[in-house]
Amino acid sequence: MRQDLNQMTCIEDLRQVAKRKVPKMFFDYVESGSWTETTLRDNRNDFTPIKLRQKVLVNMENRSLKSKLLGEEYTMPLAIAPTGLTGMVCADGEILVARAAEKFGVPYTLSTMSIASIEDVANNTSSPFWFQLYVMRDREFMADLIQRAKKANCSALVLTADLQILGQRHRDIKNGLTAPIKPTLPNLLNLAIKPEWCMKMLNTDRRTFGNIMGHAKYVTDASSLMKWTAQQFDQTLSWEDVARIKDLWGGKLILKGILDPEDAQKAAQYGVDAVVVSNHGGRQLDGALSSIQALPDIVSAVGNKVQVWLDSGIRSGQDMLKAWALGARGMMTGRAFLYGLGAYGEDGVRRALEILYNEMDLSMAFTGHRNLQDVGREILIADRFPLSQQEKKESINQQRRRIYEELYGWPRASLRFGTMW
Ligand SMILES: Cc1cc2nc3c(=O)[nH]c(=O)nc-3n(C[C@H](O)[C@H](O)[C@H](O)COP(=O)(O)O)c2cc1C
Repeated sequence: MRQDLNQMTCIEDLRQVAKRKVPKMFFDYVESGSWTETTLRDNRNDFTPIKLRQKVLVNMENRSLKSKLLGEEYTMPLAIAPTGLTGMVCADGEILVARAAEKFGVPYTLSTMSIASIEDVANNTSSPFWFQLYVMRDREFMADLIQRAKKANCSALVLTADLQILGQRHRDIKNGLTAPIKPTLPNLLNLAIKPEWCMKMLNTDRRTFGNIMGHAKYVTDASSLMKWTAQQFDQTLSWEDVARIKDLWGGKLILKGILDPEDAQKAAQYGVDAVVVSNHGGRQLDGALSSIQALPDIVSAVGNKVQVWLDSGIRSGQDMLKAWALGARGMMTGRAFLYGLGAYGEDGVRRALEILYNEMDLSMAFTGHRNLQDVGREILIADRFPLSQQEKKESINQQRRRIYEELYGWPRASLRFGTMW
């Protein structure tokens, strides 16, 4: 196993192994984006044109990526994003990921739609983790979830704002995604070629949504659970609910799923502690902007009022460094750690975190820095990164001024410039 892990030199290696080991239905669930998957692809592709400035002959010794998220110091500015059904990617998945995160020194976020329950994860880990809340129509159930998270000593609540309705992912429908898995012929044939996954799953009794089963009214078995889940996402969720949830929770609140600067401003007004610029990993509104493209406007709108973080598309430490340079003060990753989990369980998640850390650390060094806290936009090549609307306007005005100066000479250009713009 150790040998195999050493061969894993990038997140794509872990993805390839996970693809072999995880049943198709759950691997597809991880991979999928909504509809045409354009936003899913843009999340990755839009990192590529951003170019880093290499600096040479500077001292590169004693580097640090240490960063604060919500006032707590972590090994690097990365948190594990909440992902539903993690315990179906690998048996006991949530507990394995939480342990790997704890050992590495990054926060773990448990999803409402997890397989292991809040209490189960708390009993099997020693550091506080974060809890992600989906707002359900059954408000009693929601209030109870918040109380359970408090009792389990969760140190922050992540409120997901972009999933009142589920984006359509074709593959999940075609595969008939369920937890536990339905014993249909195609499923059984697929399980037959995933022996390691099956053995581990037979050795655990965590096989369905642990936060819901036994807690939500009238949910007693798999079929009532599926019905309940399908009807429960609350389409009426509003900004007033953010205020109510903030009061009920009473602790640090992160709002996840912000893509628009006006929404970011509202979030700041409602007093959240951080916003996550996110399109849910391309799983909700297909055709929405990639997160890295949306980031500059949001940083420009609220960067001095609230911590701005980013997720969606992060598969390397270079992606993290670019997002940091553009003003994200924290990142989350979903698929990168799920690939590690599906490939090698807890060891695989640790490997994914090591890969991201090393890539970010070395890339920072190549740009001439030793401490991430000193890194800003100067590590990016000018004209090769997305600008905020305000910066774009300023840059167009500058170009116009230059053209007029060339055409009419300085004094007349200034006069004319003054009257026209
Ligand atoms: C398989 C999977 C399940 C997810 N489940 C949840 C969830 O339960 N709650 C939530 O807020 N976000 C969920 N997300 C979105 C992630 O929290 C995060 O926004 C996204 O994965 C980031 O994109 P990335 O996968 O490219 O890193 C899920 C994402 C994936 C891939």
